[in-house]
Amino acid sequence: MAPPRATRRQEPSPLSDAVAISRHKRAAARAAAEMVEDGMHVGLGTGSTVAYLLEALGERELKEVSCVATSPATERAARALGLTVRTLDEMCDLDVAIDGADQIDPSGWLVKGGGAAQTREKIVAAAARRFVVIASAEKAVRQLAPPVPLELMRFGLHSTLRALSQARLREVPESPDGGLIADYVGPVADPRELASWLSATPGVVEHGLFAPEMVSVILIGGENGVERRAGGKPNS
Ligand code: 5RP
Repeated sequence: MAPPRATRRQEPSPLSDAVAISRHKRAAARAAAEMVEDGMHVGLGTGSTVAYLLEALGERELKEVSCVATSPATERAARALGLTVRTLDEMCDLDVAIDGADQIDPSGWLVKGGGAAQTREKIVAAAARRFVVIASAEKAVRQLAPPVPLELMRFGLHSTLRALSQARLREVPESPDGGLIADYVGPVADPRELASWLSATPGVVEHGLFAPEMVSVILIGGENGVERRAGGKPNS
């Protein structure tokens, strides 16, 4: 008699994980694109989830939408899809800003800046009446963890790095605004405390911790569709 065949549990392959993550990012991005109406001023974040948003906005052929981009890459991609891109100073206020995230904790704190755009992203999010975060399910974590992206002034860089003690410069550190991109790699036990300390450290232009009160809604794409989490920013 033939020996029984060993039954091995099928582990998900890295490739199928990547395919599922892309599908989840796309679902969240498409849900956010539906929140954009013709005539709106829209802030566009940076990253692969935002690329799906641009694709969805391009398909909608909204003739009167004006966008502000948080990075040269987003600006190029938006223009290539026929979207109108203007500067934030030309538009002053924004109806909505939509952006991805690297980590989202249960209380709505975000880590952003994996694409080194956290300074512009925070300015754009703050200028918008609504800030919508789009992400795939693996970005929702129980507790935030390092790295936390930073933008630092060039002037006095060594003093700033010494004061931060647990920060390292990225391999390609230049930001499009003349700053240098680094990562804080110390503990992130209390994000509010860490955010205040980073903001108060001379030489830190901006950090990638976004407080819940900056966020209107978080759309998280997963196997069961798009989960909607309310943020702490009041509707205006
Ligand atoms: C860029 C960001 C991005 O939103 C974040 O890194 C998520 O990127 P992705 O959508 O590619 O997963 O903060 O500075």
